[in-house]
Amino acid sequence: MGLVGTGIPGRPFSALPVPIRRPLQTTHSLKKPIMTAPDELADFVRRLPKAELHLHIEGSLEPEMTFAKAAKHGIRLPYPSVDALRAAYDFRNLQSFLDLYYAGVEVLRDEEDFHDLTLAYLARAHADGVVHAEIFFDPQSHTARGIPFATLMTGLLSGIRAGRENFGISCFLILCFLRHLDADDAMRTLRAALPWKQHIIGVGLDSSELGHPPSNFADVFACARLEGFIPVAHAGEEGPPAYIHEALDILKAARIDHGVRAEEDPALCERLARERIPLTVCPLSNVKLAVFKQLAEHNLRRLLQAGLCITLNSDDPAYFGGYLGENYLATALALDLGEAELRLLARNSIEASFLPAGDKARWFQQLDRIHT
Ligand code: HPA
Ligand code: ZN
Repeated sequence: MGLVGTGIPGRPFSALPVPIRRPLQTTHSLKKPIMTAPDELADFVRRLPKAELHLHIEGSLEPEMTFAKAAKHGIRLPYPSVDALRAAYDFRNLQSFLDLYYAGVEVLRDEEDFHDLTLAYLARAHADGVVHAEIFFDPQSHTARGIPFATLMTGLLSGIRAGRENFGISCFLILCFLRHLDADDAMRTLRAALPWKQHIIGVGLDSSELGHPPSNFADVFACARLEGFIPVAHAGEEGPPAYIHEALDILKAARIDHGVRAEEDPALCERLARERIPLTVCPLSNVKLAVFKQLAEHNLRRLLQAGLCITLNSDDPAYFGGYLGENYLATALALDLGEAELRLLARNSIEASFLPAGDKARWFQQLDRIHT
């Protein structure tokens, strides 16, 4: 199975990317002092046109917005200040993060909240040179609190529209099912999403991985594929390579989110490379959630060298200490990535996106025009 790739054949898609605008302005100026090496690296990374393919919009909720929304809705937070909340972002594993992440979304209640959240992320991503984003959202974490599906969709879509108008950034939505809930709940969520399906490019699977294998969701993914959604799935973050096999063979995932534990299964790595199934890797997330002890131990470079289509992403940037630019920079420094590897990561991100082929070709051309 290869990358499904170029949008949804035969299905109109309303969030079509806008025509390409000129690339981001660089910070070069004749009056500026000679740049230090990290400045040059940051500038180069920023100018590379990039897609972000693994971003949970709820994970872009910054503590400042949490407090602003809590005040708006009259919610008392169990933290005295923004700094105290940020200081609580010290995680042992995926579950310890998810507990805070699900508590955080309680402040998102109306259309304006979802609009603001989305637009704030797109503004930040644009500043890092992201030209296209495919963002996850978790409807069950909102509908379970009584927020109508229409409220979150309307807010997300108006945020996406504003992002396109203000920054020229294109954005697709991927609906994620929460795997710690049962398959019937996921199926009800899929049904609720059907009236909005022209606005949602794919379905994904996230939340607590261990003990919740992809095969539990075989039926709902089969229905979703029949409805034209492109399947993706988190697998091999904390879970074993067997979960990656299930995501590919049972869910028919076109991309694997995280997937870093594939390295434990050489035959699987060969398959991922041969079939060019992308892994959406999130290095800062992996360190924060103790998948790797430190960034210097991350396997991204080895996976790239093994010929896999690796992309770099920020996952839940408000919680993990960095947006896409910071992920590129920190990873480049820790793993000693050079210009060719950074260029390859940016190229992979465009290739692995669900943009139409013509848009991909234009971004590849723009990428080739970027020089150090
Ligand atoms: N893994 C699984 N589920 C998630 C994540 C993650 O990193 N972020 C938000 N939901
Ligand atoms: Zn994720």
